[in-house]
Amino acid sequence: MYPNILRHPGPTPIPKKVELAMAQDMISHRSAEFVELYRETTERVKPVFGTKQDILLLPSGGTAALEAAVVNITSPGDEVVVVTVGAFGDYFVSICEKYGLNVHKLQKEWGEACTKEELGDFLKTLSNIKAVFVTYNETSTGVLNPVGQLGEAVREHSDAIFIVDGVSAIGGAPAKMDEWGIDILVTGSQKAMMLPPGLALLAVSEKAWKVIESNDSSAYYLSLLSYREWNEKGMTPNTPAVSLIMGLSAVCDLIEEEGGFSKTVERHKVMKNMVRKSMNALSIDLLTTDEYASPTITAIRTPEGLDLGNYLGHLKKKYHLDFAGGLGPLQGKIFRFGHMGYCFPSDILEAVSLMEAGLQDFSYPFEPGAGVKAAQEVYLSSVKKQ
Ligand SMILES: Cc1ncc(COP(=O)(O)O)c(C=O)c1O
Repeated sequence: MYPNILRHPGPTPIPKKVELAMAQDMISHRSAEFVELYRETTERVKPVFGTKQDILLLPSGGTAALEAAVVNITSPGDEVVVVTVGAFGDYFVSICEKYGLNVHKLQKEWGEACTKEELGDFLKTLSNIKAVFVTYNETSTGVLNPVGQLGEAVREHSDAIFIVDGVSAIGGAPAKMDEWGIDILVTGSQKAMMLPPGLALLAVSEKAWKVIESNDSSAYYLSLLSYREWNEKGMTPNTPAVSLIMGLSAVCDLIEEEGGFSKTVERHKVMKNMVRKSMNALSIDLLTTDEYASPTITAIRTPEGLDLGNYLGHLKKKYHLDFAGGLGPLQGKIFRFGHMGYCFPSDILEAVSLMEAGLQDFSYPFEPGAGVKAAQEVYLSSVKKQ
C-alpha cells in the first residue's frame, strides 16, 4: 500500500507523464510516425548533452554504449588511459582490458576526484594514447570529476579521443559536450533521465567520427557507423526501444516545462546542498568534499555507532525509505542518497525527516529536526532567489 520511496542512484522514480507516454499504442520503427518522433526527440534532447551533434539511441543499458565507444574507437593493442576514482572507473578499465587494450590506469582514492594537473602530469609520461576514458559522476562515491578541465588536459598533452561515461550525471549535472571537447558522451535512461532502464544515449564529435571511420572495428550490433547511417533516415539500424523513445519525448516536455535544462541543473544543485547541509547539521560525515560533490548522488558515512545494514533495513521496512548501500571497499562504510531525475526539494525534506525518525528509533544522539531545518533553509533561500 505504501509507495517505496526510491532514493537510489538508478533506477529512479518515473513521472506519471512519462509512464502515460510509454503506454501509447505501439508503432512500427520503420513508419513515418516513428521518424517524426525520433527526429524531434533526438533534437530536443541535445541541450541535456550540451551538443550540436546528433544523439544516437541504443536499445540497451549504459554498459553497451560504453562498450560501443571502446570497440568503435580502438583496436586491440592500442594504448589508452582510464581515470578511475571508484567502481565505475574500474568498470571502464575492465571493458578496455577485455578488448585487449593496453590500459594505463590513473587511480585515485575512492571519494576523491581527478584534477586537471594530475591527468596532465600522467599524460606527459605517456605517448601514442588513442583514448582517455573518464567517469563524469562516479556513482559509487558521489564524486563529480571536473570533466571540462580534464578535457583541457587531454587536448594539451595528447591527440587522444576523450570519452566520458555520463551515465549517472547526464540529465542532472551540467554538460557542455562541445565546449568541453568531449568526443564521446554516453548516458543511460534509468538515472537522471527519468526513464525506466533500457535506453542508452550517445553523441560523437567530428574528431571521433574520423577515427571511427578509419578504424577497422569488429562491432556489428554496436557499430556506430551503422547507427549514423540509419540516423540520417530518422531511424535506428535494428528495432529500437520504441516505448522508451516515446517516454523520452515526454521527458523533453518536462524539462521544457521546468524552464529549460539550466533550471533542471539548478534544482539538482539545490537538492545536493540540502542533503549536504542536513548531514552537517546532524554531525554525520560525508565521503566527498563540497568542491567535487555530485548533484545527483551523495555518499554518506555510516553514522557513528550504527550498524548500517540494520539501519538501512529498518528505514526500508518501517518508513519505506530505500537508500543504496556502499560498493566494494565502501560496503558497510557509506550509504548512497540518490537525488536525481524526478526528485524535488520536497522529496529531500521527506527523506531527511524519515532518516531522522530512524535515527531516533536507534537512540542515536542528535537534535531532532536539525537536519530537516538545515535542508529547509537551503530550499527557502533558493526559492527567495527565484
Ligand atoms: C557511472 C556509471 N557507469 C556505467 C553504469 C552501467 O550502466 P548500466 O547498468 O545501465 O549498464 C552505471 C550504472 O550504475 C554507472 O553508474
